[in-house]
Amino acid sequence: MKQEPQNVLDYHGNNTIFTVWNFRGNMRVKETFQRVCALVINLNHSAYVRFPDYGASCVMGIGYNAWDLLELPEPLPRELAHFAPVVGEKHTAVSTKGDLHFHFRGSDISICLDMAADIAKALEPVAECVEEVHGFRYWDGRSILGFVDGTENPEGEDRAFFGLVGDGDPVYKGGSYLFVQKYIHDLAAFKALPVEEQEKVFGRSKQNDIEMPDEIKPKNSHSAVANVGDDLKIIRDNMPFGNMSTNEMGTYFIAYASTFSTVQKMLNSMFIGDPPGNYDRLLDFSTAKTGSLFFVPTLDMLDGFASGAIIAVAEGEKKTEPVLSVNGSLNIGSLR
Ligand code: HEM
Repeated sequence: MKQEPQNVLDYHGNNTIFTVWNFRGNMRVKETFQRVCALVINLNHSAYVRFPDYGASCVMGIGYNAWDLLELPEPLPRELAHFAPVVGEKHTAVSTKGDLHFHFRGSDISICLDMAADIAKALEPVAECVEEVHGFRYWDGRSILGFVDGTENPEGEDRAFFGLVGDGDPVYKGGSYLFVQKYIHDLAAFKALPVEEQEKVFGRSKQNDIEMPDEIKPKNSHSAVANVGDDLKIIRDNMPFGNMSTNEMGTYFIAYASTFSTVQKMLNSMFIGDPPGNYDRLLDFSTAKTGSLFFVPTLDMLDGFASGAIIAVAEGEKKTEPVLSVNGSLNIGSLR
């Protein structure tokens, strides 16, 4: 069976909308979810045919509670769980509820908005939108704090290696763990620092985006604490956002990863520190307001969810080894 990923490995679009939805109860959620799965596939195909140069896509992630509510297959993706807050001495990575997450990308905001509206129309009867962030490309790919964001991201073939589930979890191969946090920055305090001090926060130069040599890079700089090893990387797709009237200037942190444990290591290092106390200096200017973990199934799995033709189990392995059914004889939830 093909295991074609959703568009998790795409590069940043110029425009992005992120939405998080929570189901209100369990009435009609399964039928709605089936329609939404079909809609996600439809929106991606349609965007590609109508606007091939827009880099438009819609990626859907499913949270742990929703997986349970929708009675999706068991066993679950190995690392899909409720995200537990990471509590450091001074800063906390909070955990907030999220049933479904949508990531709309495109070079033009119009297509992002239309896709978001189509999803909203389908979901509104059974769910509420608890978060909506419109992110944009800021100058030459900078975060709203003024530093280029994304330089050390994996490139080429490494993107699939670090961004997609591999052979370790064959049923969910090609899927991806999606972790998001909405950060609000104290921009005034950060901008009040001399540029050399700002550079020490990131461990990189501001203008040219050059990494500091290890001998002078502060141990609590963001690039020092977030780097947990060359073989432990994630695909980051952060987008800045800003609102003058509410003074909300922020970063929507979004990561796609082959394993959530890699993201967890980074969060532990940033919020608790290694050794404890060496927390990320960036957090003195950035507060995590949300934090949720989702799983992004492959397009083939979404197709199976949409048609109800999902999830058979191999003979004699009921409830332990679900596989996608090719002939669609069983319905969603038939495993429970
Ligand atoms: C306040 C929100 C954040 C902002 C504004 C931010 C910004 C940045 C910037 C400007 C860089 C340096 C350039 C680059 O390689 O991209 C960077 C690097 C990095 N960030 Fe973040 N980041 C944020 C949160 C996070 C979080 C929550 C994680 C992980 C859970 C993370 C993981 C990383 C990693 C792995 C690197 C590359 C480090 C290296 O190998 O040099 N970041 N980030």
